[in-house]
Amino acid sequence: MTTTPWWHGAVIYQVYPRSFQDSDGDGVGDLPGIEQRLDHLADLGIDAIWISPIFPSPMADFGYDVADYCGADYCGIDPLFGSLGDFDRLLHAVHKRGMRLLLDFVPNHSSDRHPWFVDSRSSRASPKRDWYIWRDPAPDGGPPNNWISDFGGSAWAWDAATGQYYYHAFLKEQPDLNWRNPALRAAMLDVLRFWLDRGVDGFRIDVLWHMVKAADFPDNPPNPDYRDGMGEMHSVLQVHSTDQPEVHAIAAEMRALADRYGDRLLIGEIYLPLERLMHYYGVESAGVHLPFNFQLIEAPWNARALARLIADYEAALPAGGWPNWVLGNHDRPRIATRVGEAQARVAAMLLLTLRGTPTVYYGDEVGLADVAIPADCLVDPRELREPGLGLGRDPVRTPMPWDRTPNAGFTSGTPWLPLNADWPTRNVALQRDDPASMLSLHRRLLALRRAHPALAIGDFALVAAEDDVLAYARRHDGTPLLVALNLGGSPHDLPLPQWARGGRVLLSTLGQERSVADTLSLAGDEGVIIQPSES
Ligand code: GLC
Ligand code: MG
Repeated sequence: MTTTPWWHGAVIYQVYPRSFQDSDGDGVGDLPGIEQRLDHLADLGIDAIWISPIFPSPMADFGYDVADYCGADYCGIDPLFGSLGDFDRLLHAVHKRGMRLLLDFVPNHSSDRHPWFVDSRSSRASPKRDWYIWRDPAPDGGPPNNWISDFGGSAWAWDAATGQYYYHAFLKEQPDLNWRNPALRAAMLDVLRFWLDRGVDGFRIDVLWHMVKAADFPDNPPNPDYRDGMGEMHSVLQVHSTDQPEVHAIAAEMRALADRYGDRLLIGEIYLPLERLMHYYGVESAGVHLPFNFQLIEAPWNARALARLIADYEAALPAGGWPNWVLGNHDRPRIATRVGEAQARVAAMLLLTLRGTPTVYYGDEVGLADVAIPADCLVDPRELREPGLGLGRDPVRTPMPWDRTPNAGFTSGTPWLPLNADWPTRNVALQRDDPASMLSLHRRLLALRRAHPALAIGDFALVAAEDDVLAYARRHDGTPLLVALNLGGSPHDLPLPQWARGGRVLLSTLGQERSVADTLSLAGDEGVIIQPSES
């Protein structure tokens, strides 16, 4: 008998802590703020919260530049977010409500203000020199190779004092750690231990596929498909700077450590083609539990393409590998902007009825769209370094609109990024009591997942992918449920499979619950979940 791990049936919710709830009037969200809003998450019915980084940081990349990971000797939470005491209180409050808490582990790089890097750059003889990636200049004095930072420009920064370059896959304020160094490796595993001992339920691991680079640092090949406007990082293919075979031993070490604590969860952030992505489950599932599946983020929004993508993903999963799905995150355009407000409801039904663990990005449950940020309010280094290409992430990181009080209840001060202009009519309080709202749709979808194991952990079988209609069955111990999604704006009829005829629409994204005969008439932009009559 094997028991199903808690995260198979779970729904994860991503909190971007700067933007969730401010408690002290500084305009930036914080840990006590998250605690104040836990009832919202519990009402919604989510199972686990992943919080983007909250550790001490100069905030060059808004917390993805960690200056203190916490270890045996020292530990902290950035004062902007609160204290370690606030963290413990939050963790306790989350657990008390039967939810779990996942932290964001940023192992690929630290802040350049981390004491390790300060030490490392102090001299070539520093015992921490090799904890980072230092190389001599090329013969012409230039950078050691042609690797490009993901945020544009060379990925090498010159250190005049010690006469070498250091590597940074992101900002120069984010020097890459050298995971080939055993002492660094041990120190970072201690960091995981520290938080696991404190009771966190797992981690989302930042840029896992970046962690190891080819040992001899060869040039990356040029990208033949590169076009202006894509962002300079795409001018070369990152074949030598990412996704090296040695990364899997590191993931396995992290997994072995997490497993010693019982049912903790590791999720890896990995942007790679399917067949490369699957390696991150590890040989015999010794890698991370869930390599993030970002395919829906860039998927063309039509039935055939989605059906193909789902089939390819399901087919590529290794034995025992559990699927997962994501519509967006703090780095990518929001779903409501990509597919429009009407289809965002259908997308929510898709995300929450596919086979696998879904992660919901904060704000998507009220249909938040990307917010146009005035030029003088832009703060994301991704935007500031390569302006105007639409690569900036400020639009998807705006404050959560809670209610109609000033600043939508997010802060008593000045929000660090502007609110969505429609916050007086698009906010949690208004949607909570409106049965037709996006929030109510999410709440009902999550309730159905709890009521029907078929939706949470059942098998998946495609039923139709024609015109604009995508339909599939989910089955667990008995009669399946049918999910049918109209991905377009015009009505469509779907002849139902025998078993679904005469069933009931348990949930319609348009609130049109009804019984069905032999043919399902879907309104434009409608998604439904049908329960056959005999069950
Ligand atoms: C990940 C994070 C992103 C960050 C980058 C560097 O992709 O999601 O926000 O900028 O890593 O840490
Ligand atoms: Mg604050």
